[in-house]
Amino acid sequence: MGKLILAAASIAALTLVGPAAAQSPIVIKFSHVVATNTPKGLAAEKFKELAEKYTGGKVKVEVYPNSQLYKDKEELEALQLGAVQMLAPSNSKFGPIGVKEFEVFDLPYILPDLKTLRKVTDGPLGARLLKLLDSKGMTGLAYWDNGFKQMSANKKLVTPADYKGLKFRIQSSKVLEAQFRSLGVIPQVMAFSEVYQALQTGVVDGQENTWSNIYTQKMHEVQKYITETNHGYIGYVVVTNKKFWDGMPADIRAQCEKAMKEATEYGNGQSAKENEDALAEIKKTGKSEIIKLTPEQDAAMRKAMEPVYKDVASRVGQPLIDEFLKETRGATN
Ligand code: LMR
Repeated sequence: MGKLILAAASIAALTLVGPAAAQSPIVIKFSHVVATNTPKGLAAEKFKELAEKYTGGKVKVEVYPNSQLYKDKEELEALQLGAVQMLAPSNSKFGPIGVKEFEVFDLPYILPDLKTLRKVTDGPLGARLLKLLDSKGMTGLAYWDNGFKQMSANKKLVTPADYKGLKFRIQSSKVLEAQFRSLGVIPQVMAFSEVYQALQTGVVDGQENTWSNIYTQKMHEVQKYITETNHGYIGYVVVTNKKFWDGMPADIRAQCEKAMKEATEYGNGQSAKENEDALAEIKKTGKSEIIKLTPEQDAAMRKAMEPVYKDVASRVGQPLIDEFLKETRGATN
């Protein structure tokens, strides 16, 4: 973690003291790594609009998209230090800071659809997971959707054997590492902002992501094939610096909570459509061939990735996986 983060943290602390503090708005810096026209980007803008409206301008939200301020892992450090006040990292990114329970969301094929996901995030399990963030100096505020992941490469990926020996970019998640090892892929952890170039220059052969991320990062321009696998899910946990949040006047915090609740409903209500639209745009460019799997090919992929569950159970415990599965059981995929 750099000096820059520390410097920014002390400036942020200074802005809250002194005689001017009473009149000047409370600034919430919201940093994120994706484009503005994505499910996360749009939800962050909606939160800004509503928080500023409900607090009558007493809160100012500055949204910094596209890793403008920080890349993946740096983001969480910056939040813990108070250099930024709000983030929405993917579930996968909480393992490296010691909250590995969020890794369950990364398990291949664990969620058949977004409706089922909502049962988990809106229920007691979702609330309990958010509580785990307290010990890291964060308050978990909401779950935001992106959507389901697809596989891309310059090679046609149809059967599990097609993946063998390829190098894939992954987020910093042990589950994703195990998932790709189960396919014989060499996983390489890399920040999101570096993926396009790594694909373009051949540092990695492929990657997994949602349609909206693939499209807005132009990955389809440097990948000949994208296989519609829907094998995993990318969603976010909106987190704020706990000290900052607890230190806000109660009435303003309540207005921000209302803004967050409504921004969450707005964002989650349209994430599926944003991914569908991104897929349509990718198709229009004609730059990547979209491959659909037959039910048999899909079944072979699921079978190949099955060992990942055992691996994850040894890290987060079988009871947590069972609890997750209990919520999702009965849904059809
Ligand atoms: C990724 O790193 O691929 C994603 O988590 C980026 C994001 O925030 O959607």
